[in-house]
Amino acid sequence: VASDLIELERRAQELLDPGVYGFFAGGADEEVTLAANLAAWTRLRLRPHVLRDVSSVATATTLLGQPLPTPFLVAPMAYHRLAHPDGEVATAAGAARAGVPLVASTQASVSLEDTAAAEPEAPRWFQLYVHRDRGYAAELVHRAAAGGYRALVLTVDLAAYGNRLRDVRNEFKLPSWLRIANAADRFNDDDDDPVSIASQFDPGLSPDVIGWLRELEDLPVVVKGVLRGDDAVACLDAGASAVIVSNHGGRQLDGAVATADALPEVVAAVGGRAEVYVDGGVRRGTDVLKALALGARAALVGRPVIWALATGGAEGVQAVLDGLRAELERAMMLCGTASLDALTPDLVVR
Ligand SMILES: Cc1cc2nc3c(=O)[nH]c(=O)nc-3n(C[C@H](O)[C@H](O)[C@H](O)COP(=O)(O)O)c2cc1C
Repeated sequence: VASDLIELERRAQELLDPGVYGFFAGGADEEVTLAANLAAWTRLRLRPHVLRDVSSVATATTLLGQPLPTPFLVAPMAYHRLAHPDGEVATAAGAARAGVPLVASTQASVSLEDTAAAEPEAPRWFQLYVHRDRGYAAELVHRAAAGGYRALVLTVDLAAYGNRLRDVRNEFKLPSWLRIANAADRFNDDDDDPVSIASQFDPGLSPDVIGWLRELEDLPVVVKGVLRGDDAVACLDAGASAVIVSNHGGRQLDGAVATADALPEVVAAVGGRAEVYVDGGVRRGTDVLKALALGARAALVGRPVIWALATGGAEGVQAVLDGLRAELERAMMLCGTASLDALTPDLVVR
């Protein structure tokens, strides 16, 4: 077992094909935002309390009204079968054992039905890219509802595909055996280029799409990829139930603000009207604690789950998520905070 998530990445890198590793690890352009996400959590300093009875600490919470043991979600990521033959089935199993909801990607390499069937009782959300083909987008929403997914995560930061220079340099192509399983060969089944696949997504979206989704099914819409307070308010006004402060793990607009830096503005603008989540560079229990102190209700974890999947399959995924929970519990004890309600902004020096 890796002692931390940074070391885990090194192990995964040894195992994976260099092109695949670059696809998972990389960001856009100079990877300024990729690095900034990590640095911004690290830069924040804590102001711990002492003498605050922490003989028992509780990480339990609710997300969109659903009780959960920890304030974590597995971030939606494409193509888990590039990391492990069982792909999203193994991720779902590991996440379920840790009690962490999986946000399944539109671009998954296992269909949303098969992922749901792997862990029927586990909480799960579905991430939606809205295709230009609105019939297909609507079909995905209906299938997600039928498959027991409890929220739609609408990703809005991919109006164009980020310029992933590692993939350009590696001439990275998807292997011919890999399928965008939800599409079931509906689009070019021999398309091996992530850039051209992404061109199927509609760059013409406006907040109206949120109302359209809510008419299709009775599922809460969580908008992912918000970095500004005014946009968060526009999403809520249009019917969203929550927003995720995210820059897509630095894979889209390079130079975009780090998520730890954007979070306070979004939390202030939302003003308690809705839940706010955050992702990007969350690697340690103290990062989660800082995120919650700054007003996030939960943090999504991305790449570390892929590294865990690649190195240890379902067990690896469970170990990483259990480990993060243990780190959060330790951080809470050392900050004198026995419950998540006690995580307030004064714990953090910005
Ligand atoms: C390999 C990879 C694939 C991704 N695929 C998707 C996707 O299909 N849909 C989506 O909304 N976000 C996707 N993301 C972004 C993640 O959901 C998340 O925002 C980001 O990875 C969080 O940052 P972290 O990896 O530093 O934890 C992807 C990220 C990675 C690394």
